[in-house]
Amino acid sequence: MSVITDLTRMWLTRSTKPFTFYNEYDQSLHFQNCENLGLYVHIPFCESICNFCPYCKEIYSKEKCDKYIDALLEEIRMVGSQNPDKKQVTSLYFGGGTPALATGRLKEIIDTLQEYFIITEGIGLELHPRNVNVETLTKLKSAGITKISIGIQSFQQKYQDILGREVVDIEKMAAALAQVEFETVSMDFIFALPNQTYIDLKRDIELAFSHGANHVAIYPFIDFTFTSSKVKVMNKKEKRALLDEITKYCLQQGYVRSSIWTFSSEADAKYSSMTRDNFLGFGCSATTLLRDQFKINTFSVEEYCKRIAEQKLATSLTIRFTERQRMIYYLFWTAYSTRVDSRDFEKFFGKSLQKMYGVELWIAKMLGFVKEKDGIYEMTLKGAFYYHYYENFYTLAYIDKMWGIMRKEAFPEKIEL
Ligand SMILES: C[S@@+](CC[C@H](N)C(=O)[O-])C[C@H]1O[C@@H](n2cnc3c(N)ncnc32)[C@H](O)[C@@H]1O
Ligand code: SF4
Repeated sequence: MSVITDLTRMWLTRSTKPFTFYNEYDQSLHFQNCENLGLYVHIPFCESICNFCPYCKEIYSKEKCDKYIDALLEEIRMVGSQNPDKKQVTSLYFGGGTPALATGRLKEIIDTLQEYFIITEGIGLELHPRNVNVETLTKLKSAGITKISIGIQSFQQKYQDILGREVVDIEKMAAALAQVEFETVSMDFIFALPNQTYIDLKRDIELAFSHGANHVAIYPFIDFTFTSSKVKVMNKKEKRALLDEITKYCLQQGYVRSSIWTFSSEADAKYSSMTRDNFLGFGCSATTLLRDQFKINTFSVEEYCKRIAEQKLATSLTIRFTERQRMIYYLFWTAYSTRVDSRDFEKFFGKSLQKMYGVELWIAKMLGFVKEKDGIYEMTLKGAFYYHYYENFYTLAYIDKMWGIMRKEAFPEKIEL
């Protein structure tokens, strides 16, 4: 498996040089001239821990969470104050963990960010189904949240049992959502669970759209090596059939494919913390992607708070890009939206996409992975499947390795991918 990712990396970056992350960082970040910059804030606390989940999180306690948020506000000030004026950014997303556990302090976090940034496309936040009640939704809305994403996984007991999650009370959830409206209400599902069928998945999607969602995300189940999950992975053939059927169904229903995993029933409904050219991440495990570098904060809540108290950024690892490496990062993130516009690429790099990756694009067209019209490369159904498939390899070869190490060591010396 890693042979495939290694060879692809060497080919696409035209170099044998691996992606190397070092235990070093810049205290001063160059985001002042970045266009299409997004913000991300990580809240690493949950009421209970799901054994399949790879994200950086720990069991919630009010004391720990308050201490963490004090540090988070300080990190925001440390970074935000590096720009003399207010910097325009596209969006702000809160992820976790379960960020709704910090509802009481969200306004403070958003206000602090707004001292330094002008957010133009709204604020999103991830919710556990337990958080979907009128009281919490009202607080979130008054704090400025405009989009929510609820981690449903499945509406069916058999799959919730497999995942060790409780069954969602769908009517109660719909009643709360009907009382407090948001621009985007997204619901997350996990697919490719053992024996899951197209009918199961279709039913879940329909229930979502008829119970308050205008956007759904369907994530393939990924078996991270460092989790204790015993859930079996579906084989490639079955997974492909399932993904193709559900994609065709969604398109036939007139849902818009807003990204590789997501469908919207209303064109304006968007929820994506992935597809931005540059982003600044705050909090444990949060990543920052800039023109010249990608960096990742420590996974340790304790070490994060300590570093920030010393007025130092809590960066654990940094990779400084070669131009081709940055291009690969750009294409990889942009491809989540299922399309790459060669004009945007040229604007970002000052170089033509055709010149840099003409051969690869030609091969992708010949293999039926993409179609091109007026310089826009759009993924076909087949292309989307293989992107999904390759992304799975990438996740296991790169993210699994990196997160596996970072969960154990707050500041590893070096990681080569
Ligand atoms: C941070 S959680 C969502 C919010 C909330 N903590 C919850 O669980 O409801 C993000 C989402 O990642 C997805 N996820 C977690 N572990 C996964 C895995 N092993 N494979 C695929 N998707 C996963 C789930 O769909 C989950 O809803
Ligand atoms: S899936 Fe959500 S609730 Fe479960 S451990 Fe992960 S972040 Fe926490």
